[in-house]
Amino acid sequence: MNTGIKIRAEIAGTGMFLPRKVLTNADLEKTLDTSDEWIRTRTGICERRIADEDESSSTLAIQAGKMALESAKILPNELDLIIVCTSTPDILFPATACFVQNGLDAINAAAYDISAVCSGFVFGLSIAEQYIKSGKYRYVLIVGSETNSRIVDWSDRSTCILFGDGAGAIVLKKNEINEPRGLLSTHIHSDGSKSDLIIVPGGIGKKNISHEAIDRKEYFIHMSGNSTFKAAVKRMVEVSKEALDFNELSVEDIGLVIPHQANRRIIDAVTEKLGIPQEKIFINIEKYGNTSSASIPIALHEASQASLIKPGSLILLVVVGAGLTWGAALIRW
Ligand SMILES: CC(C)(COP(=O)(O)OP(=O)(O)OC[C@H]1O[C@@H](n2cnc3c(N)ncnc32)[C@H](O)[C@@H]1OP(=O)(O)O)[C@@H](O)C(=O)NCCC(=O)NCCS
Repeated sequence: MNTGIKIRAEIAGTGMFLPRKVLTNADLEKTLDTSDEWIRTRTGICERRIADEDESSSTLAIQAGKMALESAKILPNELDLIIVCTSTPDILFPATACFVQNGLDAINAAAYDISAVCSGFVFGLSIAEQYIKSGKYRYVLIVGSETNSRIVDWSDRSTCILFGDGAGAIVLKKNEINEPRGLLSTHIHSDGSKSDLIIVPGGIGKKNISHEAIDRKEYFIHMSGNSTFKAAVKRMVEVSKEALDFNELSVEDIGLVIPHQANRRIIDAVTEKLGIPQEKIFINIEKYGNTSSASIPIALHEASQASLIKPGSLILLVVVGAGLTWGAALIRW
């Protein structure tokens, strides 16, 4: 007899952590040929957080992870897996996730990093979904954590104004229920032919690290802003439609969109093309800038804390990042 009971992946808890230090647009005006007005109107960003010397992607991730575990009401030793999504790992290896595993005392969890830059969290969610839905794991911690301030060129006004540091986390949990609740589906894509759009070109495995390469600023973010903007809008619209079509849902069914917080104008263009009204879009870019893989889990945590997500409501996560990578997820809360 088919009881309809299926293994589903549900969000059991969320968390976030941000460095205390705030860098405002007014602060940037002192060191760059820029203005608060330019940054606000072109990006929607007013300020961003900057990690202290004793902070790193792992320390931010540990704090966000602790909060997510508390919110999920589970103990660290119940975690089966920790996935840290980061493009600013503490060091080349071991994986930042191993430092997080140790910091959380999650002794039973395997731990590894994934690199999909700003799309990292949705890619991580997609991996965790497979472990849970296959029945292999019960609890997976997914953390997006970044210290972008360490890889931006603070003399490049077209990139450094955009990025900030922070971490966001969720616990994904196995549940056996009959109604379609929790993570409905994830959709991820890559186009390596667009790798030049946003890149940190400095070699590690490709060539020897040299003083010359460092002087040429190869270990900082280089970006073609305009082309990235256009590609971001196109891909975020496409993948949002793909997720809705896959679940036979429509734009009208969406309760809240949590888009990657890269640029307010990208968010506006995407949601306008999809026909989603302003009141259904969560935006916190003004406070944190683009925190890369941390952006969506931070926004998800803030939206749930602000009671903007009601039980049963449909949430669309949509993201784009260097690679080019892009993805979406639909969640029935
Ligand atoms: C970077 C970005 C904000 C630039 O905005 P834009 O409207 O495309 O601006 P442009 O690059 O066309 O530059 C316009 C002018 O502003 C200048 N400018 C760039 N940054 C500036 C700043 N911080 N302050 C003042 N002027 C600035 C440029 O030098 C250029 O000057 P010029 O006309 O004299 O050459 C925008 O392209 C963007 O957000 N792109 C997407 C980036 C992104 O989200 N990346 C991550 C994706 S995950």
